Amino acid sequence: MRALAAGRGWRLCQASPLLGQSFRAACGRALSSRASDGGDESFTEIKIDRSGLRGQTQFYASGEGESVGPSPASLNAPVPSTALGRLLARTIRASQPMSVAEFMKQCLTHNTLGYYSKSDVFGASGDFVTAPEVSQTFGELVGVWCVTIMHKLPLRSKIELVELGPGRGTMIADALRAIKTLLKSPRWADRLELHLVEASSKLREMQQAKLQPFMDEAGGGLKVHWFDSVHAYHASKDSFNAAPIFLAQEFFDALPVHQLVWDPALAVWREKMVAADEKDQLSMVVSRARTKACMYMDAPAYKERVVSALETKALPGGCVEICPEALVVMELVLDVMRRSVPGGSALVIDYGNGGPIASSVRAIQRHQFQHILTAPGEADLTADVDFGALSSAVDNVMHSRKQGVEYVHGLCEHGMVTQADFLVELGIRERFQALAAKAGTSEQELAKLQKDFVRLVSPDEMGTVYKAWCTTTDNLSNIYGFSHRAEPERT
Ligand SMILES: C[S@@+](CC[C@H](N)C(=O)[O-])C[C@H]1O[C@@H](n2cnc3c(N)ncnc32)[C@H](O)[C@@H]1O
Repeated sequence: MRALAAGRGWRLCQASPLLGQSFRAACGRALSSRASDGGDESFTEIKIDRSGLRGQTQFYASGEGESVGPSPASLNAPVPSTALGRLLARTIRASQPMSVAEFMKQCLTHNTLGYYSKSDVFGASGDFVTAPEVSQTFGELVGVWCVTIMHKLPLRSKIELVELGPGRGTMIADALRAIKTLLKSPRWADRLELHLVEASSKLREMQQAKLQPFMDEAGGGLKVHWFDSVHAYHASKDSFNAAPIFLAQEFFDALPVHQLVWDPALAVWREKMVAADEKDQLSMVVSRARTKACMYMDAPAYKERVVSALETKALPGGCVEICPEALVVMELVLDVMRRSVPGGSALVIDYGNGGPIASSVRAIQRHQFQHILTAPGEADLTADVDFGALSSAVDNVMHSRKQGVEYVHGLCEHGMVTQADFLVELGIRERFQALAAKAGTSEQELAKLQKDFVRLVSPDEMGTVYKAWCTTTDNLSNIYGFSHRAEPERT
């Protein structure tokens, strides 16, 4: 079924019969189950990417409001040398320990000292590489996916493409090129508006530069609007006549998570917090009292799922990460989808799992892991995404009503598949083959294509750690990329 679906004949993805045997063999190896020990090493060589950021040792104390166990120093968490680290330490000393979520939020999006407010952090010369930065094919296939959704919407519906956290704008630029090719009309942009939700002003400038050619096109360029938060985008909505297509590639992993620990003696949740001593040394402590975040454990997205994970010992150390902000973002996204007259969809691609996450926050700087307290604002902080919580949000939103709000549609959840399954079903193999078959492709370019393909789909690299997850309004079904689910779950 999947192999057939991969050959759906998108113009962009047509297979070339002329490919060399070695490239085909590489494709086959990348997609077969985990490479055997004797696999060809030239295809498993990895540069650091965020798919590998797992299993970080987490330091936290289990005392009551104070640090016990290993000292931060023993885990190489020195006094932070960064301006933001010193600012946070002073803030904490002046008031009280800060939740991991607040710490993460400040580190990533503080408007002058936050990680994303700095210059370019992506790519080989930055701190990490994301899938759209690996290969143009990733964004192109996301564009193909958007067109498959457009074909399912009522004829001539206006489309509102909304990307959350576009980074350098690479994915959306590649997607737009594919959309333009597939729509085949010189007035292709008339039907579309692009909305970009980006917290960083530096990245907004970079996105604008990348999208300028689409905005300047003759015959009516693409209209692009920027928002610095999902709330700002949502608040700007005064009409629901266009169909929203939301895209979130490595956005949810950047949202702040709270880390909670189950105290079996008192049968209560406590929260891990960041504390600071008089020398500005940061350390992790556990809250003495129940914090506000502990109360989220009663939210439907977490309650039963976390309790059953605790019972089955799926949460080592009784730790769990929760991301209330992800639920709020989903609620806003789903609210727009349900109210939009033609219907809408949301595609989330990120690393994570369907079950509750134990402890995954990690820091990376220049392709190296480090302690999360070492370089606030200068290292990326990221956490695995709990896709099961996003699914619960769909469920909850379906059963909630806002007074005075007219909902046009219900919602369908189309499940979570691996990035490899998603991309293969959309034709990634054929797209790479077509690129490789272009006249004049050098040996060096061919080798790079092989490497990029393997990187995106191999289970040893981004292929299975990353997942694609989709929800749409209930007038859309049989969503491409998710065909392993015969019937979408109706809520
Ligand atoms: C890990 S990067 C991913 C970038 C891009 N999607 C990619 O895959 O290359 C996260 C992106 O989300 C943005 N971001 C993080 N938190 C945000 C927030 N709360 N609101 C809006 N944008 C945010 C960052 O500035 C950045 O553009």
